[in-house]
Amino acid sequence: MIRSEVKRIAVLTSGGDSCGMNAAIRSVVRTGIYYGLKVYGVFYGYEGLINNDLKELDRRSVSGIVNRGGTILKTARSERFRTESGQKKAVHTLKKNKIDGLVVIGGDGSFQGAHVLAKDWGVKCVGVPGTIDNDIEGTDYTIGSDTALSVALDAIDKIRDTVTSLERIFVIEVMGRESGYIAMRSALAGGAEDVLLPDVKFDMDKICEEIKAARAKGKVSWILVVAEGAAKAQEIADIISKNTSYETRISILGHIQRGGTPTFMDRILASRLGAAAVKLLLQGDTDKMVGIVSDQVEVTPLEYATRKGKEAYKNLYELLKILEA
Ligand code: ADP
Ligand code: F6P
Repeated sequence: MIRSEVKRIAVLTSGGDSCGMNAAIRSVVRTGIYYGLKVYGVFYGYEGLINNDLKELDRRSVSGIVNRGGTILKTARSERFRTESGQKKAVHTLKKNKIDGLVVIGGDGSFQGAHVLAKDWGVKCVGVPGTIDNDIEGTDYTIGSDTALSVALDAIDKIRDTVTSLERIFVIEVMGRESGYIAMRSALAGGAEDVLLPDVKFDMDKICEEIKAARAKGKVSWILVVAEGAAKAQEIADIISKNTSYETRISILGHIQRGGTPTFMDRILASRLGAAAVKLLLQGDTDKMVGIVSDQVEVTPLEYATRKGKEAYKNLYELLKILEA
């Protein structure tokens, strides 16, 4: 048994849901109880903290969820929590319920909120990275990114069947307003001919010329994957059909990428990180995130985890262009 000042902890999920969040909640609850803690679940992320919407969770309350997408604690984007008065109410809830440690499962926005709670209000907070975008520093993968990528890839494979049969140009829009993770990786793994990423310049004239040149050489179908933050699929398709006169179709995969059965990768990641977060709180640590780097649990300051710039696409993009020929 670890000797610790921490006796009661709470867990919440915040921002966009991702597959494996339930496995992380289960791990936090069962690890906490294993170490003799009382564990509370907060509903609707920071909104639930503001509204005092929480309840104690026992081992059984997290049964049968390791294989389920979404989050049993629900999630929300809370504008009120961005304000000082919202944060004050959230802290009041924690004090009233004698909660002395908080696990925040979410993406970079949620971590910014947790950082504020730790730095400005003295709340002991540990973050667990849960987002399909895989855009958090200090971890190789975030919970849900593997499942989302698998869903996108499965869709691209299916679309390829019809693309090849009808010899068309297809534009497939995947999720990622600010992150090109799903776009880059699903394009490479799906054998797409090109990809448009949010933070990388692209040249539609050049792409149209490539499509025409490929056709002249007998390559009749073409898949272009577009991250939603890079461009709208319909606009890109319109440019292609106008400049090449080839029949072009689009598919917007949307929120199917956030649901489904979590892959084994996401379940294991979530199970390891949930437990690691509890142990960090027990050690009295705060304002940190737990991640996995080279298969080892690593601890990173929340402030650093939310810095953007993790993904460098250059090498993967070059590889995609070599392989698509
Ligand atoms: P994600 O965690 O998936 O990136 P969001 O960016 O929507 O999702 O953030 C989730 C929530 O975190 C926001 O609705 C807000 O309540 C809180 N949050 C985000 N940024 C801040 C911030 N700078 N200060 C306080 N709270 C924040
Ligand atoms: O941050 C996760 C994410 O799924 C992004 O990939 C996407 O751009 C965004 O959330 C969509 O948010 P919403 O569900 O609010 O439309």
